[in-house]
Amino acid sequence: MATGINARNKKIMADIFEKLIKNQGPLGQHRERAHGYFAFPKLDGEIGNRMKFRGKDMIVWSLNNYLGLANHPEVRKADADATADYGLATPMGARMMSGNSNYHEQLEAELAAFEQKEDSILMNYGYQGIMSAIDALCGRHDVIVYDAESHACIIDGLRLHPGHRYVFKHNDVEDCDKQLERATALIEKQKTGGILVITEGVFGMAGDQGKLKEIVALKGKYDFRLLVDDAHGFGTLGETGAGAGEEQGCQDGIDLYFSTFAKSMASIGAFMAGPKVIIDYIRYNIRSQIFAKSLPMPFVIGNLKRLELLRNHRELKDKLWSNARKLQEGLKARGFDIGKTDSVVTPIYMKGGVPEATAMVMDLRENYRIFCSIVVYPVIPKGHIIYRLIPTAVHTDTDIEETLKAFTETKEKLDAGHYKVELIPDMAG
Ligand SMILES: Cc1ncc(COP(=O)(O)O)c(C=O)c1O
Repeated sequence: MATGINARNKKIMADIFEKLIKNQGPLGQHRERAHGYFAFPKLDGEIGNRMKFRGKDMIVWSLNNYLGLANHPEVRKADADATADYGLATPMGARMMSGNSNYHEQLEAELAAFEQKEDSILMNYGYQGIMSAIDALCGRHDVIVYDAESHACIIDGLRLHPGHRYVFKHNDVEDCDKQLERATALIEKQKTGGILVITEGVFGMAGDQGKLKEIVALKGKYDFRLLVDDAHGFGTLGETGAGAGEEQGCQDGIDLYFSTFAKSMASIGAFMAGPKVIIDYIRYNIRSQIFAKSLPMPFVIGNLKRLELLRNHRELKDKLWSNARKLQEGLKARGFDIGKTDSVVTPIYMKGGVPEATAMVMDLRENYRIFCSIVVYPVIPKGHIIYRLIPTAVHTDTDIEETLKAFTETKEKLDAGHYKVELIPDMAG
């Protein structure tokens, strides 16, 4: 029996676990019916255009294996050889203490050269890397101006920022200008601090490129540094594949260029490139790397191989774009709304509730053998559904034709109310 302070507290204090069990969160609330199917599905087989889901062959449109490097024979061999030579342990410790190697430094030098920057720093993961870089770069007097639809890792980086932050409406350069004016006024009042603008090269959900060229042009009016997360542009945009800055002809205006290896590179890790003196500063101040074990050697050697292929085989990017155009033009010709994408990311916008969206996805998977991701409320407003298709260099014309046919038929069913159900289908298991 609780006595004294414990008894008093019992009246006002919630049990953390009880609270979580009662409210599983906006997506977690569907867990019992969705787990293993709509959420946490397991795709089997070699990564590619066709994989198995619950024993059935599917055309897969949900992997960011843009250039098809995941299963490239040279990549598989480099990964296997490096793992045999070094294992996953090497090197042990953080880079700063004992975990550095010539391969790590070679990859950093090659990435910097590819991005036309002086230097770069490797990060173990994109998410914690950029978050921690934001923390390292900005102090309490600095102001961060950022796009409203920035990826969660940028938003979490902002949460670490002790100073002011001003958000501009998504890809709205006029509003960015306004926020820069506010930020400049604040700094003038404080008599200290600087401005960091953060945006993305390609917004991964809608596929629209960040307005980098226009933001860079604002440097004529305001003093600021620009950090760009180009997770979806790296390897897919620009003549050489160097990303959205190269595509828009403003790579020089990007002060810090960031990308994960989780997409075009089909791997793990990330990097940030920029002026040597600033990259050195980050190297010695970024907490997520200083206090964490360095990227294991097979990832570093595997990433060197991927970068070599990405640089030397532009036909992979050409094939990706040829597939993306066929898919996007085919959808548009059939009357689908694919929004404002100007990248290979292909969203399809429809109207419907969460249960309806899941019933349609089930039909797509079970009867048409199409596996794609859906985005629903609360990630986007109620009543909207986004199907998100990611074309890759390894998709075929047959994959595209079958998919266009499947979407045409299922959209007709959606419009006819065929998928109206009360609850999301119970597919857990
Ligand atoms: C825009 C963007 N930034 C950062 C990340 C995080 O990268 P990582 O998967 O390497 O943690 C992602 C997702 O992978 C992303 O889409």
